[in-house]
Amino acid sequence: MSEKRQFRAIKGTRDILPPDSALWNWFERTAREVFETYGFGEIRLPTFEETDLFAKSIGAETDIVSKEMFTWEEGAPVTSQLQKWWISKHLGEFSKADREAVFSDQRPDLVVRRGQTTTVIEFKRRTLSQDSTDQIRRYRKIFAEHFPVGTPARLLFVFAEEPSPFVRQLAEANDVEIEVADIPGYEPRQSIALRPEATAGVARAYIEHGMHTLPGNVKLYYAGPMFRRERPQKGRYRQFYQVGAEVLGQSDAPAIDAEVLEMLLVLFRRVGLANTKLYVNSIGCKECRPKYVELLREELRKVSDKLGPDSQRRIETNPLRVLDSKLPEEQAIIEALPRISDHLCDACREHFAKLKDELKLRGVAYEENWRLVRGLDYYTRTTFEVTAAGLGSQNAVCGGGRYDGLVELLGGPPTKGIGFAIGTDRAILSIQEGANVPKLPGLAVYIAWMGAKTYPTAVAIARKLRDCGLGVELPPEEMKFKKSLGLADKLGARYALIIGEDEVASGTYTLKRLANAEQTKLNENDLLEYLESERRT
Ligand code: HAM
Repeated sequence: MSEKRQFRAIKGTRDILPPDSALWNWFERTAREVFETYGFGEIRLPTFEETDLFAKSIGAETDIVSKEMFTWEEGAPVTSQLQKWWISKHLGEFSKADREAVFSDQRPDLVVRRGQTTTVIEFKRRTLSQDSTDQIRRYRKIFAEHFPVGTPARLLFVFAEEPSPFVRQLAEANDVEIEVADIPGYEPRQSIALRPEATAGVARAYIEHGMHTLPGNVKLYYAGPMFRRERPQKGRYRQFYQVGAEVLGQSDAPAIDAEVLEMLLVLFRRVGLANTKLYVNSIGCKECRPKYVELLREELRKVSDKLGPDSQRRIETNPLRVLDSKLPEEQAIIEALPRISDHLCDACREHFAKLKDELKLRGVAYEENWRLVRGLDYYTRTTFEVTAAGLGSQNAVCGGGRYDGLVELLGGPPTKGIGFAIGTDRAILSIQEGANVPKLPGLAVYIAWMGAKTYPTAVAIARKLRDCGLGVELPPEEMKFKKSLGLADKLGARYALIIGEDEVASGTYTLKRLANAEQTKLNENDLLEYLESERRT
């Protein structure tokens, strides 16, 4: 007999069960309501995208991309798809397909001979790189050396997709023939990743749907799961949830940044997230940041021997990330480093100053933190984070900032952008740790019916109450009166509606408030009216 196995949720993932899920729904619902009052509309994005999208946006060297993404390959390699297609299409033309020994160290994808003609074939997706043109030259050289003068030889490039006119010109100039394949069900091999965040997907969608032609700024929000292969701990999961918002468009006015932050804090207040702290910073633009990074690198090299291995590595790879270090022994050294606020260009300094004025105007409390650099490469100028109480070391409940060059980097028109993402898991944890857990409406009415003849009436009343939006539990089988009321209590129902044969005969029902056992007799109309008015309280 096969052994029975119990399955458990994968490490770093978890189930959100009732009643917690009601709190989650309420949180997300409140976020939607607040965001919509600021003119945001929802975007529902795919949960997986091309790996390259994330590598390009977040940065190939960042921890998120280099260590934490869940990726897989999709589709057969283009070369093998093309080879199969080409051989099956041209099989009849050749008596023999073989690979020439002379090419053993520089092997083309396929070499075939037909009579006196040798054809050397390369299979490509759609482009010829510098490498390929070098390769053409190498092949020609080998031809000249190994084949008797006058041996007809063809170089043929077989593409899976239509190549650009430039590629066609290049091929012609090098006397290379081109054939474009038509493979049924062709799908290029590509690397796909579960999204570690949603800003990259939003930027991709903005370009794909030509949203730059929409009037005004494009304001989008999203809610859903994100995936990062991090070491799980309290507040840190491999599948976690974010609620985020992004503004994309032509303007980078500091008022946009300030409004986004105002909206965030309105939401936090609305959901009772107490003890939050907003930290803001400006990390400059592509004009001033590189100069600051170089200065920082120079200063860090001077103190390199006093730093830990992570920071030492980052001096060369990404010196800004050294500022993120939490190592106690590095703190004094970091505090003495040059600060970006002293090295912003005029435009960035002015932008940051205006942002702070705007925040004051809106009564948004903040603290400046010059060390807030964030772990994603797309940020420019404004960066911010919100921390909340009760979360231990993973206390960042929200992160965000400006990403003015991102859309352009992904092949779109010059576009400004700013946004944030709230970690829903952490927001909920913090709400639960505080004293502000809202009392959400649970089960309103439990119908205690007795006697088979009362059942049709119970079914009809249950339907009417549910039509009024009330949560109703209708026991599927008859139960003893005491047991039935006991269950109503355990389920946390506010009322038990008692329907016995007498009630059905008289058309009046007994409504019992379970908290204090108070009973009222009501006919059907009064009952519906009474419970509806109760629902609103
Ligand atoms: P992020 O700082 O990487 O930014 O993530 C935002 C928030 O997601 C964090 O502050 C945290 O609350 C939550 N979070 C991140 N990783 C985990 C995890 N493993 N487990 C639980 N919660 C986590 C972004 O994702 C950017 N896309 C934000 C943004 C939007 N910037 C501009 N627009």
